[in-house]
Amino acid sequence: MTAPSTVLVTGGAGFIGSHVCVELLDHGYELIVVDNYSNSTPQVLTRAERIAGRFVGAVYELDIRDRQALSAVFDRHSVDAVVHFAAHKAVGESTRMPIEYYDTNVGGTTSLLRTMHEHGVHRLVFSSSSSIYGNAGRGPLDEATPARPTNPYAASKWICEQILADACRRCSEYTVLCLRYFNPAGAHPSGLLGEDPHGTPDNLMPYLAQVAIGRRERLRVFGDDYPTSDGTAIRDYLHVMDTVEAHRIALDHLADSTGMHVYNLGVGKGSTVLDVVAAFSEVCGRPIPYEIGPRRPGDVAELVADATAVARAWGWRPDRNLADICRDAWRFQQLNPDGYVGSARRANTKD
Ligand code: NAD
Ligand code: WQD
Repeated sequence: MTAPSTVLVTGGAGFIGSHVCVELLDHGYELIVVDNYSNSTPQVLTRAERIAGRFVGAVYELDIRDRQALSAVFDRHSVDAVVHFAAHKAVGESTRMPIEYYDTNVGGTTSLLRTMHEHGVHRLVFSSSSSIYGNAGRGPLDEATPARPTNPYAASKWICEQILADACRRCSEYTVLCLRYFNPAGAHPSGLLGEDPHGTPDNLMPYLAQVAIGRRERLRVFGDDYPTSDGTAIRDYLHVMDTVEAHRIALDHLADSTGMHVYNLGVGKGSTVLDVVAAFSEVCGRPIPYEIGPRRPGDVAELVADATAVARAWGWRPDRNLADICRDAWRFQQLNPDGYVGSARRANTKD
């Protein structure tokens, strides 16, 4: 079986999706992007095209739960493989809006799978999450660690994994590469693409960047009573550019064998929230103001990857560190102080 050349990217205007689009355009793939812009803006794709110097083949504004609209896209294009990013992703929000999370993340995935199957497309790269491991304790976690989700977001990703595993058991044509990301962060080195969620950021890195630029007063650190060196929670921060390289390599390996294969994507090194605050303060040249608040519901003390399986299978290893992540996130924030939409507004005003 040959490697895919036309790839449909769901959620391609989002943080990780847009960076992956640049990587795939750079490597000669034909891309079809679908996104409902619930957490992004169409302008992102124009920027991705500007960086790559090539156009995305086709872009559709649609909700992946709309099977009729999704089916029309598969009717129109000969899709070889799908990279599926479209989902809601905020742990805290998921505890307040569980049904919306299951509907979009699980319902979106079953809608996509049914549509793919109807069109004879069976190759998928799926965005899963380290959050499925839940409170697994200390030390690097490998893929055999039992899933124990502690919030609806994590549960929705674990349900999707089980659905995908069942689909592979039922139909031998499927190849599913399920990538469990730890904490992707940072930005494209050009400063043109980065993380710009709608509303108040839930994730640490964009929140810190908005404090650093003066859009927010201070960071609230969610808990300092965890059993860690400084009492704040430990995560494994992975540069988004390392993350996208893993996706490009995954596409190369979709032709290897059928069935479902699950890999952690992480660095294997943990940083506390205060380590990240210190690293960001260093790159932006001033201390980031913060206050200690209560723990966030659904959070766990520590999540660090054992990512040796993917290194063994594909030779993928991240080569950027926390300082690189903070430096690139800060560059994006400086060049886009009000985010993508704010930048467009300023550019239009100048015209
Ligand atoms: P993001 O919110 O920036 O991107 C998701 C994109 O999907 C957005 O452009 C959004 O508009 C779109 N989308 C959402 N619902 C949709 C729907 N029903 N139909 C069509 N488009 C829809 O998030 P991200 O950080 O780029 O994450 C991408 C994927 O990776 C998600 O599946 C997320 O769960 C997973 N993930 C992310 C992280 C992380 O730290 N960023 C970690 C683990 C897993
Ligand atoms: C990192 C650390 C917070 C914000 C989740 C998912 C994961 C991935 C990323 C999808 C935690 C602390 C955060 C703030 C803080 N999925 N924090 N103040 O929760 O590790 O991972 O999002 O996107 O799969 O589980 O990431 O960036 O939200 O938090 O103190 O304002 O920073 O408590 O310890 P998280 P995060």
